[in-house]
Amino acid sequence: MPICLAILVSGRGSNMKAILQAIEEGRLDARATVVFSNNPQAPALAAALALGVPVESVGHRGLSREDHETRLLETLSRYPVDYVVLAGYMRVLTSSFLQHFHHQDGYFRIVNIHPSLLPAFPGANAYEEAFAYGVRLSGITIHLVDEKVDHGPILAQEAFARLEEDTFDDFKARGLSVEHRLYPQVLQSIALQGIRLLPSDQPSFYQETKSK
Ligand code: GAR
Repeated sequence: MPICLAILVSGRGSNMKAILQAIEEGRLDARATVVFSNNPQAPALAAALALGVPVESVGHRGLSREDHETRLLETLSRYPVDYVVLAGYMRVLTSSFLQHFHHQDGYFRIVNIHPSLLPAFPGANAYEEAFAYGVRLSGITIHLVDEKVDHGPILAQEAFARLEEDTFDDFKARGLSVEHRLYPQVLQSIALQGIRLLPSDQPSFYQETKSK
């Protein structure tokens, strides 16, 4: 049985597209039941619609965080959802939202991708901050979501190099290509065997560092 995904986006949606493409190509045994955005103008919504996925949006402007989440929950309740997949969803989720997606091990069925080797550079500008810091190595983290920003048990991390001649755009493009490959892979591992966490903080799904 394919797993049902609600994909939450705020902007461009390149990760969403990579996930939808993996489903289309049979690399990910999942069904995207809905794509939701807090930004009614998000380009991701048009892209999802064009691919035949139902889209919903509730703008967050003028709503309290609680009211916005109530509307989000009400929206999601109309679709089958096994996992909530954050793909560039730039809103912090409150603990009361998380409680609606309990996983049997006490974690939540909410997955996020972040473009750094967490716990380094959490927040909305990880590529910019890592590049400006002068890191030689950065990476991508996929993790379960908890109450803190870009925080929670790690499902996968993959490092990538920053080369001396890199412009910021080169650096970011290298990271994005890792994101687009890794997110569908991790979701497929969840589709096959559920969420597998090690008893400690160690990543349960580790990929070798790649330099390109
Ligand atoms: C991606 O780089 C994602 O890792 C990042 O936002 C971008 C969304 O791009 N997420 C975060 O920074 C979460 N803190 P996309 O809309 O093209 O997928």
